[in-house]
Amino acid sequence: MTLGSHLTPLARSHIEQADVVFAGLSDGIVEKWLERMHPDVRSLQPYYREGKSRLKTYREWVELMMVEVRAGKRVCGVFYGHPGIFAWSPHKVIEVARAEGFEAHMEPGVSAEDCLYADLGIDPGRFGCQHFEASQLLFYERRIDPTGYLVLWQVALVGDRSLGRFATGPAYRQLLVDLLVKDYPPEHEVIIYRAATLPIERPRARRVALRDLALSPLTAEETVVLPPAMPLKPNVAMQAYLEKLDALERVEKIA
Ligand SMILES: C[S@@+](CC[C@H](N)C(=O)[O-])C[C@H]1O[C@@H](n2cnc3c(N)ncnc32)[C@H](O)[C@@H]1O
Repeated sequence: MTLGSHLTPLARSHIEQADVVFAGLSDGIVEKWLERMHPDVRSLQPYYREGKSRLKTYREWVELMMVEVRAGKRVCGVFYGHPGIFAWSPHKVIEVARAEGFEAHMEPGVSAEDCLYADLGIDPGRFGCQHFEASQLLFYERRIDPTGYLVLWQVALVGDRSLGRFATGPAYRQLLVDLLVKDYPPEHEVIIYRAATLPIERPRARRVALRDLALSPLTAEETVVLPPAMPLKPNVAMQAYLEKLDALERVEKIA
């Protein structure tokens, strides 16, 4: 995620030992840094095009990598953050390679999610934490739990059914807000978060009221966090069962 600091020694060694490296990175400067580690780094970025379905691009990425795998080369795909988080091609290419009898492995990385917990001081274990791709909340009926954290990814693209747009506008975000206000008060504070990708940058966290999210400028590199809006509700029935179970165990111990 952040140039220089978030590459594990094992990931670096995979890059250095590969015959060819494919790069799906968020930042041209990070790509330049990668080029210093390996003489044959091939950028996957040029395959994106406004109006072209991202799914088509992602399938092309898989094919590009597999052509080299089938040619007997050691191939390393480098994707920013964690390669398996909100990323289709890395999972797919591993599946395809294994199905064709090749050895394939995913090396975990430091995701925007990891940075978010550190930078915003959130422990997902405290109240629980749901993660959704923002469009999925519009396309499908999902159950939001406002007693825990809610993390929304790809909000800048929310509602894009074509999979071909680089951004959708405030009208699309308004639909998301309309959906969220069923579970949260309109004045609920949401955090628009961006992890640092360069060591000279600071992480960014803008706080806006939920009702203003539609009109707040938002980039493709930002993630939206909704902190809990209400306290955890005790499960009285389950606690009563536990009480009985504890009592039973005490009796059994004495006997
Ligand atoms: C295709 S996903 C890739 C996520 C990446 N694999 C990871 O592990 O962080 C893109 C989404 O990740 C989030 N994202 C990407 N860069 C980010 C950053 N610098 N700070 C916060 N969130 C980021 C945004 O929600 C964005 O829409």
